[in-house]
Amino acid sequence: MQTVTLIPGDGIGPEITEAAVKILEAANAQIEWDIQTAGAEVAEKEGSPLPDRVIESVKRNRVALKAPVTTPIGKGFRSVNVQLRKSLDLYANLRPCKNIEGIKTRFDNVDIVIVRENTEDLYAGIERQIDKDSAESIKIITRKASLRIAEFAFEYAVKNNRKTVHAVSKANICKLTDGLFLNCTREIAEKYPEIEYKEILVDNLCMQLVQNPEKFDVLVLPNLYGDIVSDLCAGLVGGLGIAQGANIGENAAVFEPVHGSAPDIKGQNRANPTALILSAIEMLRYINQNETAARVEKALYTVIKEGKCLTQDLGGEATTNEFCEEIIKFL
Ligand code: NAI
Repeated sequence: MQTVTLIPGDGIGPEITEAAVKILEAANAQIEWDIQTAGAEVAEKEGSPLPDRVIESVKRNRVALKAPVTTPIGKGFRSVNVQLRKSLDLYANLRPCKNIEGIKTRFDNVDIVIVRENTEDLYAGIERQIDKDSAESIKIITRKASLRIAEFAFEYAVKNNRKTVHAVSKANICKLTDGLFLNCTREIAEKYPEIEYKEILVDNLCMQLVQNPEKFDVLVLPNLYGDIVSDLCAGLVGGLGIAQGANIGENAAVFEPVHGSAPDIKGQNRANPTALILSAIEMLRYINQNETAARVEKALYTVIKEGKCLTQDLGGEATTNEFCEEIIKFL
């Protein structure tokens, strides 16, 4: 039995968490959940949206499954997600984007893995009001963080039989910061002659991704570009409802969907839990419960391929609960 921290989040978080947990239990996953709440309601009660107990729990268990948490826009507390990634030094954000059979999209040969640096760049949150009409934000790029994310990307490529790594930047404009990032990716690339190394500017990448996504394999990006390009790639394969993710560090890993808390559909039993279920499948592999992972994955893909019981974002009419029960039937 493995203890895993479970962060149900808010918005649609608790609904999709309930679905994912039910499926994992039906699959007989050997997991004991250490449930840790976080977010706005917790902030009201405990004075912080991310109390120390949550971080301590992930440190103790070394693995967590996390649903999205709302971040107030333009005011209020700092993102729980950013804080969690920073305090646990979860430096690599891994987001695979692959077509799933049964989900109709413009392209049917997308198989991209995004490796996003998770700890610095504009997400360092160092902002300053200069005067009433101007503000500034500091973009931080360090050699240490750039080297280790590049290393992660190339190691991933080798272990997963990938052929090419593209380093993504805007080094023509951000000459010092993105220039440093590229110097580091070049340095690491030299150690991996078996992997083809290429560089591309982020604007050009976006254009090419929506025209010829099959040209791309592994992408390694600083934090902000990684965040934006992940959503773009999620859109290529069927939207945020199916986009999984993982935040990985030396000592802990947090598995979570790419999407946010979707307040617009909260409490309506219509959220798609697939992204969280796929994240949970990767988590099962991370804790070596590979057989359970394979069974859940097969059941999920069968339901999607059959196309009879899909949530609204995938063109169906099923509720979150109905979709979840259908997966359990196929386990
Ligand atoms: P969002 O991802 O929550 O929603 C964007 C659109 O996609 C909405 O129309 C939503 O209904 C739809 N959508 C998202 N997930 C879905 C699902 N599973 N099933 C069906 N439809 C889904 O992005 P938004 O609106 O920009 O952010 C909402 C909140 O979430 C913000 O407070 C943001 O800070 C937070 N957020 C949290 C993240 C996390 O906890 N890791 C990541 C991204 C955003």
